[in-house]
Amino acid sequence: MAAKVAVLGATGAVGREVRRLLDERGFPLDGEPILLASERSAGKRLPWKDGEVEVRAVGPDAFDGVDIAIFSAGGGRSREWAAVAAEAGAVVVDNSSAFRMDDEVPLVVAEVNPEAARRRPKGIIANPNCTTMVLMVAAKPLHDAFGLTAAVATSYQAAGGAGMGGITELIDQTAKLVNDPDRLRTDGAAAEASVDTGNFSKAIAFNVLAHCGSFDDERYTDEEWKLVNESRKILDLPALRMSPTCVRVPVVVGHGIQARLSFSQPVERDAVLAALEGAPGLQIVDGVGTGGEPLAYPTPLGSAGIDDVLIGRIREDLGDPYSINVWVVGDNLLKGAALNAVQIAELVAAED
Ligand code: A2P
Repeated sequence: MAAKVAVLGATGAVGREVRRLLDERGFPLDGEPILLASERSAGKRLPWKDGEVEVRAVGPDAFDGVDIAIFSAGGGRSREWAAVAAEAGAVVVDNSSAFRMDDEVPLVVAEVNPEAARRRPKGIIANPNCTTMVLMVAAKPLHDAFGLTAAVATSYQAAGGAGMGGITELIDQTAKLVNDPDRLRTDGAAAEASVDTGNFSKAIAFNVLAHCGSFDDERYTDEEWKLVNESRKILDLPALRMSPTCVRVPVVVGHGIQARLSFSQPVERDAVLAALEGAPGLQIVDGVGTGGEPLAYPTPLGSAGIDDVLIGRIREDLGDPYSINVWVVGDNLLKGAALNAVQIAELVAAED
């Protein structure tokens, strides 16, 4: 059945991908999508198929007649408008963190726990955090095969995870600093002081920040807690032991995660490869270039614009026969956000 779809945050980095995917994946749309953003964007025209659709400011009547509303405008807007949209009869697919840990809101990765989307007493389905999403696509087939007990996960997160503003900040800082390599080499503090920061706490260009999100009293960040709590909820493993570290790197798109995954039984590389082979939404990119094997491993640039999550550097752990190490990379705007949201919307549209 064709569904009337609204996109809140249609002008943003994720919203742009949502619009493209609705069109390219042949989503069963009832007419044109309703494109919603802030007052600032009202009246702006965005491309849709061969023409354009006018952006509307979100408001109390914006969701009348809407079947599915895909939200990607930040947690504040989700808290403000999700109940309004649900009250109007829409199923909300929410890309923010506002409802992810709500017991009455399913947290769904399309390849991992699609059945959870059906139980949604609030009319809201949450789309997981982009880093968690990428890791889950790889972890699920391994959990099914060997029983996941623990994960030490370190993310290398793209600036684009902070939206268009994050991308612009990286590009602007890079443009400013790239012409002064001597200063970058001899006086990093002066280089850093010469650029404007807003989305990130320190300069992101030519830098690596062991900081995504905001710190709590336990010295972990909210982004790190998302990785812990959302993984437990998605895999239905409330006791999963996790050690997260989230790091921001000067990459436009593509989150990488180095994960040491531990299981309830010893694991060997061949069995891991067999378990990953054919897993939905996952491509194995794994060759180390020795003995004539092609050199191949995932990179953020290799993942940008790709639907699948990429996995490589698959190694048995050197100290623990129950653990393996993997390097997983996924486009944070696609599988990490827009693609999974559209996949969830497809699940809803396909319901009886
Ligand atoms: P707008 O372009 O009108 O500001 P990104 O994640 O790339 O920064 O995008 C954020 C998205 O959220 C944009 O589409 C933005 O619209 C939208 N947005 C931000 N603030 C509001 C608001 N107060 N009401 C509705 N949409 C908003």
